[in-house]
Amino acid sequence: MNPTLETMRAHRSVRAFLPDGIPDDTIRKAVSAAQQAATSSWIQGYALLQVVDEDERKALAELTGGQRQVLEAGAFFAICGDVRRHQLIAGREGKPHLANLETFLLAVVDASLFAQNLILAFEAQGYGTCCIGGLRNHLPDVDTLLEIPAGVFPLFGLCVGVPDPALATATRPRLPVEAVWMTGRYSDDAAMLAHIDDHDRAAAEHYAARGLDGRNWSGGIWRRFAKTARDDLRDYYESKGAKLR
Ligand SMILES: Cc1cc2nc3c(=O)[nH]c(=O)nc-3n(C[C@H](O)[C@H](O)[C@H](O)COP(=O)(O)O)c2cc1C
Repeated sequence: MNPTLETMRAHRSVRAFLPDGIPDDTIRKAVSAAQQAATSSWIQGYALLQVVDEDERKALAELTGGQRQVLEAGAFFAICGDVRRHQLIAGREGKPHLANLETFLLAVVDASLFAQNLILAFEAQGYGTCCIGGLRNHLPDVDTLLEIPAGVFPLFGLCVGVPDPALATATRPRLPVEAVWMTGRYSDDAAMLAHIDDHDRAAAEHYAARGLDGRNWSGGIWRRFAKTARDDLRDYYESKGAKLR
């Protein structure tokens, strides 16, 4: 198989790491490659903040919901949308920098594309990664801890490190391609539910192989969205300069 596709297909989130750090030149290589991701209108609306202070890593492990990998990974980064550079440019020119929902989305989409490229760049070099949406659990506290400037939107964390081979996990199955790739028109509900049933069977097998009988994918989905979470995000991101209404 094509080695890039092989790396992509081998992805699984890693939550158990050996204590090895990551050399700066490896990080630089990964970041530089990731920056080549497509970016809306070449705006490059993202930034990466590596958290290097041990006490800050400890505090973040707690703030993200007691996630040990945040402390134990070889490196931990906050993936951020960034309109700060654009604001600096406008300020230097004496021009307005106008925000709306679109300018926030531009930064979020750019940061997400950059982040996925970064994950691939690390994985291609043999490292394991785990995104940490738990970074949004207590964003005002994360903001204070890391002294996030205006125009910067922390979106999620990223753990990177050498996977502990004794605790290696299998890849998680994904929806059938037909559930994701539609041609011409969106699938009707019955066809989509049939794809979901197929995926539930694959997910149930995946869980059963780990001793978790009776679980499937759709059960996790309806439970997850039967309640809302992180209802304070609009206030936080607006405090950093986003306009979300
Ligand atoms: C934006 C984002 C946030 C995530 N947040 C967490 C997290 O806080 N903790 C965690 O252990 N995994 C987290 N994950 C990993 C997902 O749970 C994982 O990607 C998903 O279950 C699929 O498993 P896989 O990556 O092993 O294929 C996150 C993934 C993404 C993309």
